[in-house]
Formats: sequence, C-alpha cells, structure tokens
Amino acid sequence: MDEDYYAVNAEWYGALVADWQAPTDEAVRSLLGQCQGGVVVDIGSGTGSVLPLLRDLGAEKLYAVEPSAAMRVGLVATLGRDRDLLARTTVIRTGVPGAFDRLPGQWDVVTMLNVIGHLDDGTRGRLWSELGNRLTEGGRFVVALQPPETVVEVPWTDFGAVRIGENEIRTGGAATPVDDQTVEWTMQWTLVNADGEEREKRTAVHRWRALSIADLEVEARDVGLTISGSAEGMPMVGFGRTG
Ligand SMILES: C[S@@+](CC[C@H](N)C(=O)[O-])C[C@H]1O[C@@H](n2cnc3c(N)ncnc32)[C@H](O)[C@@H]1O
Repeated sequence: MDEDYYAVNAEWYGALVADWQAPTDEAVRSLLGQCQGGVVVDIGSGTGSVLPLLRDLGAEKLYAVEPSAAMRVGLVATLGRDRDLLARTTVIRTGVPGAFDRLPGQWDVVTMLNVIGHLDDGTRGRLWSELGNRLTEGGRFVVALQPPETVVEVPWTDFGAVRIGENEIRTGGAATPVDDQTVEWTMQWTLVNADGEEREKRTAVHRWRALSIADLEVEARDVGLTISGSAEGMPMVGFGRTG
C-alpha cells in the first residue's frame, strides 16, 4: 500500500463514511448473527467503526489490524469512548502479511471491509491460506469489496458531499487501468466553506486490485471455504468451511 494514502483523508474519514455506518452494520449483522464469543479479527480496521458491533455480537477478544498511523488515531479514539471495547481490543500496528505472526492461532470471525484490493496477489494468497488453517469450525470470514470488480476505465465521478458543521467535504475520483488486474484510483477531496468557497483540495493516488465476488469464491474453494451468505444490496459476503 502507498503508506501516505490514508494520511491524506484520515482527518475526514469518519465523516466520509458516516452514511455507510448503519447499512454496513446491518449487512455485517445479517452475515454473522451472534458470534457466540471467541476471537474476532478486523483486518484493515480503519477508524474501527465496525468494532462496537462485533463486540455487541459477542466477540470476547478483538484484534484490529491497521497499518496506517493516521487511521489508528481514529481507531484508538473509537476504543477510548467505550471502556469495555478498549479492554477487549488489541491494535496490531502493521498490515497483513506481517500481522499474521502477531495474531492468535485460531480465528472465530474475520472481517475485512473495503480492504482486500489493497493486497497484492501473493499477500491475498497468504490470507486465504491463513484463513484455511486458522478459521474455526463454524467460523466466518466477512469481506466487503470496493469497485471496480473488473479492470475498466472509470471516468471522473462525483461521489457526493458530506457536511461537517458549516463546511462540506466533496469527494470525486477516477480510475485508469494499470494492467489486466489492477487499476489506479485518483481520489480528490475538496473542503468548501459556508460561503461556497473552496478552501482546500487534497488528492491521493493508490493502486487497487480489481476483484469480484466470483473471483473470491474460486480462491476460497482452494482452501476449503464456501460462501455462507450474501448481504442485500451491498458487495459483502461471508465465507465458512465447506460442508
Ligand atoms: C478503505 S479503508 C477501510 C477501513 C474500514 N475497514 C472501513 O470499512 O471503514 C482501507 C483500510 O485498509 C488498510 N490497509 C491497507 N493495506 C493493508 C494491509 N496490507 N493490511 C491491513 N490493512 C491494510 C488501510 O490502512 C485502511 O485503513
């Protein structure tokens, strides 16, 4: 991952994803039901926005894997608002694959929301093999995808605006193919004040591995996992052990 990418928008990240919190929680809840306790790992936790729900669903011990120092500021702020969550959650300050050695041997639930395209093919292969080895019987891997699912040119798109008090953050972006598996996203955030004046523009560029649910299904099968459920109206699926 480009190490600086999330430093560019981390300050605004909580606002940028605010509209997605309720539907994301609903989708994760629909795929997990109750976790029935156990060890829960959130890979690419960002600001830790899904952690309170995972605790509420029954997680005993949580591991939040987050390599971006800027995002970890939000993550630990999320933990700090909730003493119980703070006591249960260990923050792993490196991404996968390095984080695998720092995690427990068995996982009851793994979530990976809007992250998997950051991984190169070797790291994604390692992820599947660790899931195949460490996911418990009845365990679940919940993964949410971001576009595009195949390599295409995405023209400049207005992704909408979110208000922070009197100000507004407007998001736009475009993607161009890099090769037959990867695109390069250029994202831009513009801070506009109450008078409609543009006060700041920030740009970040990152590569993203295009993946569809069908692609993941093929990779999962190789390690004995199959789709256990799909979220309604969202590119999010759960995987569990075959049979
Ligand atoms: C789009 S954000 C998603 C954050 C959160 N899961 C959510 O849905 O709000 C992607 C996150 O993945 C993290 N990330 C990038 N590469 C990673 C890796 N190799 N291992 C773990 N996390 C990674 C980034 O630092 C970032 O916080």
